[in-house]
Amino acid sequence: MISCIAVRNDQKTIYTQIEEERQRLKKKEQFKYLLNGSEFQMKGKCAISLMQTKLDIINTILTMKYGRNVIQSQTGRLKEFDSVYKKMQKKGLELNFDLALEKINDLIGVRAVCAYMDDIYQVAELLGRQKDIRIIKTKDYIKEPKKSGYQSLHLILEAAIPQQDDIQWIKIELQLRTAAMDYWANLDHQLRYKRGKKDAQLIDEELQQCASVIRSLDQTMLKIRKKIDKI
Ligand code: GTP
Ligand code: MG
Repeated sequence: MISCIAVRNDQKTIYTQIEEERQRLKKKEQFKYLLNGSEFQMKGKCAISLMQTKLDIINTILTMKYGRNVIQSQTGRLKEFDSVYKKMQKKGLELNFDLALEKINDLIGVRAVCAYMDDIYQVAELLGRQKDIRIIKTKDYIKEPKKSGYQSLHLILEAAIPQQDDIQWIKIELQLRTAAMDYWANLDHQLRYKRGKKDAQLIDEELQQCASVIRSLDQTMLKIRKKIDKI
């Protein structure tokens, strides 16, 4: 009799586990459906185009002012499902699309590479002055680089995207950096995936050293440019 009850209890836990797993998979599928669905994809692409056009205009203004190209290149992307999923798990967030819109800043991301460190702040200032842009948060990893050595200026902003009848404010993460910072970040990103536990601390230190070489290169280039500007 006792063993009969035990078997029934075991079955119950298995059924509960199966049901929980089924609900988890359902939530994951729903989330993927909303992220990859035409509404978010369309709005996201509009937000990227709008931001890139704004950066093109700012580049034209600054290029005329300084007689040199200020924004060297720019890219935009919508974050892929796998990467959003990993980030939600890392942050301990329940897989919910509205929560992702609220908490994950870089679902829509734009990156612009500038010639010199001071150009980055000029671009940020001109963007901040625009009526259809609200800067929500500034993360200055140039003034205060991350422990890894990572440098860039991050602006978490909202852009007003025209809709059929009105506008919608959409969140975008804009990363502004110099070519040297971009070079370091791209290689660090590649190496991060391949890095194992072995020699991890040594490799981290070597990458931090490379970041400080990059930093002094950017500072020297800026000094040289300022000297030439005075002539
Ligand atoms: P995650 O770091 O992505 O979890 O987001 P967060 O909310 O902590 O924001 P954070 O400002 O730390 O970083 C956002 C983005 O900056 C990342 O998605 C990367 O693109 C970039 N980033 C931050 N730290 C590093 C780093 O150490 N190396 C590289 N290559 N990129 C970094
Ligand atoms: Mg982080």
